[in-house]
Amino acid sequence: METQLRALQQEALDALEQTRDHASLESFRVTYLGRKGGRLTAILRQLGTASPEERPRLGQLANEIKTEIERCFDQRKEQFATGASGASSPMVDLSLPGRYVPFGSRHPISQVMDEICAIFEGLGFAVAEGPDVETDFYNFEALNLPQHHPARDMHDTFYVTDSILLRTHTSPMQARIMETQDPPLRYISPGKVYRRDSDITHTPMFHQVEGFLVDRDVSFADLKGVLTSFSQRMFERDLALRFRPSFFPFTEPSAEVDIACVICNGTGCRVCKQTGWLEILGSGLIDPAVLVQVGYDPDVYSGFAFGMGVERIAMLKYGIDDIRLYYENDLRFLSQF
Ligand code: DAH
Repeated sequence: METQLRALQQEALDALEQTRDHASLESFRVTYLGRKGGRLTAILRQLGTASPEERPRLGQLANEIKTEIERCFDQRKEQFATGASGASSPMVDLSLPGRYVPFGSRHPISQVMDEICAIFEGLGFAVAEGPDVETDFYNFEALNLPQHHPARDMHDTFYVTDSILLRTHTSPMQARIMETQDPPLRYISPGKVYRRDSDITHTPMFHQVEGFLVDRDVSFADLKGVLTSFSQRMFERDLALRFRPSFFPFTEPSAEVDIACVICNGTGCRVCKQTGWLEILGSGLIDPAVLVQVGYDPDVYSGFAFGMGVERIAMLKYGIDDIRLYYENDLRFLSQF
């Protein structure tokens, strides 16, 4: 039994030397010092079979060995804790290539939305986000779209209840902000919007950035200046802009804004359907009815507003031809941005 004990001591100390980390140290502890099934415990159990004269001596030896192994074990543990073990050095092969850590990146829509906001922030606009679940009042009524107004049809609304809905545009933020603050105001409001629509250019959820400015003596020229400056920065070139008369209940006059086709530079191609122009947003001077609704005097204040679809801007900027690509989570697509 004495030989057995001494052999175990040697084996344990060698094994301890081989431990490389906390996990291997723990399995060492279980193997050699564990109360149940540990190697040392197993030998101690046999003590009863030794002769009565030998028993005290063997018992003492076993205890000494146990104490010694425990002392070395503690020492090893301490070394790992202080990183002084030098234990890992033989295991590290510095010539191996590093482990590849796949990095995620921001979704192209988030990137473009941030870019749009950054451009307008540079022009002095503040950013404010609003709720996706909106009331009929802010989404329609406050924007000069009363019940049964025919223009409501265009919005293909998802209703939650009769008076609560998923906002169909970010324009409700105009009313929410104007209601609580006095001019001068310069805001943009990015966010998700929802419509019951789905095909190659429409998804039921998409993103818009709304913008508006209210002050004394705001004119259409100010709107043109701001939007021209925006599109030149967004598309990184001196683009021509075209303001086409249009209709929105919350603006008067209203205009849809086109930029010269970024693909063919205005000469006509498949993307611009041979027109040379691409529509990028809706805009106009804020309708006096909207100003009155929030308690502003339209004889004192005027303003402009605009709203753009982020998916559409990103499609034009990056030449993406199917809106659904944004939402399929295909890494081959996403990792290009
Ligand atoms: N809210 C409109 C839409 O979703 C876009 C829009 C048009 C916003 C004209 C405006 C605006 O602020 O002045 O179709």
